[in-house]
Amino acid sequence: MLNNYTAQTRIGVIAGGFSGERPVSLRSGKNVLAALQRKGYNARLIDPVDTDISADTMDIAFLCLHGQFGEDGCIQAQLAHVGIPYTGSGTQASILGMNKLVTKTIMVANGLPTPAFQVITTTPFTLDLPLPVIVKPIAEGSSLGVFIADTWEDCQARVTTILDKYGICLIEEYIAGRELTVGVLDNHGDLQALPILELKPDNRFYDYDAKYTPGKTTFILPAPLPTTVRDELHAHAIKLHTVLGCSGATRTDMLLHEEKGPFLLEINTAPGMTDQSDLPAQAAAAGISFDDLVEIILCSASSEK
Ligand SMILES: Nc1ncnc2c1ncn2[C@@H]1O[C@H](COP(=O)(O)OP(=O)(O)O)[C@@H](O)[C@H]1O
Ligand SMILES: [Mg+2]
Repeated sequence: MLNNYTAQTRIGVIAGGFSGERPVSLRSGKNVLAALQRKGYNARLIDPVDTDISADTMDIAFLCLHGQFGEDGCIQAQLAHVGIPYTGSGTQASILGMNKLVTKTIMVANGLPTPAFQVITTTPFTLDLPLPVIVKPIAEGSSLGVFIADTWEDCQARVTTILDKYGICLIEEYIAGRELTVGVLDNHGDLQALPILELKPDNRFYDYDAKYTPGKTTFILPAPLPTTVRDELHAHAIKLHTVLGCSGATRTDMLLHEEKGPFLLEINTAPGMTDQSDLPAQAAAAGISFDDLVEIILCSASSEK
């Protein structure tokens, strides 16, 4: 157990919640709870659906929520308001990281490579990018609503669907590249980039089906990459984590094009902690056990972010 915690320190593992990623969050939460208990901490699971988030029930919050009201800054603002230190990124970094348009704008401003893009808010529109293109919502996850459009008709139809649902749509240059994800861990004040995970989906891209159907994606860890490329990708992930002001652990999704090099797609500020999740696998490849990973993330708990 860490020095500044006692058996009386009550850790609330916040999991479940209101988003579509509720089942994944519950699986993350149960794993984290078990790890904390194995380490001797006084922890219990708290689901915002049926329990008030208040200082009466916990001294520290270990956040295992994903998606809306979980990683978008809302729960972070609520915890800050009631004065409970919490793990992971703060309110502002969570808001920035949840919005792909904002994240990409910050990438461009900081010289980080990201696919060329345009934002559509009304129809009709003109396409400024060559086909095929990727059409996606600005603040979703799990590849929900992400499509490849091979034709102008397809592009218009996909954009219209996304505009009807979200009111704003992102179109990106399609990058035919290797799918990589890079974890960054704030390890007691040192930002540590973890071994890079390569994902080879059977499908044309890493869509919802490839993400959640066992056997539809091959995982390669560590991804076979020349050291210089690996170092470059690590530096990019650390830089994005830093310029967004993230805390705790993050995971940055990238595509690596054979000639054009890397392109950063997005950052995940609340990476999953299930048995199948990427971050624990990347940590394990770096020699960090799940229980140690949980304890390192616990150290990111603070009320000032
Ligand atoms: N510009 C792009 N070019 C090629 N494939 C892309 C592009 N953008 C997204 N994809 C594919 O869609 C997947 C999901 O996109 P991403 O932006 O990471 O959104 P999500 O938040 O839903 O994970 C990516 O992992 C990749 O397989
Ligand atoms: Mg992604």
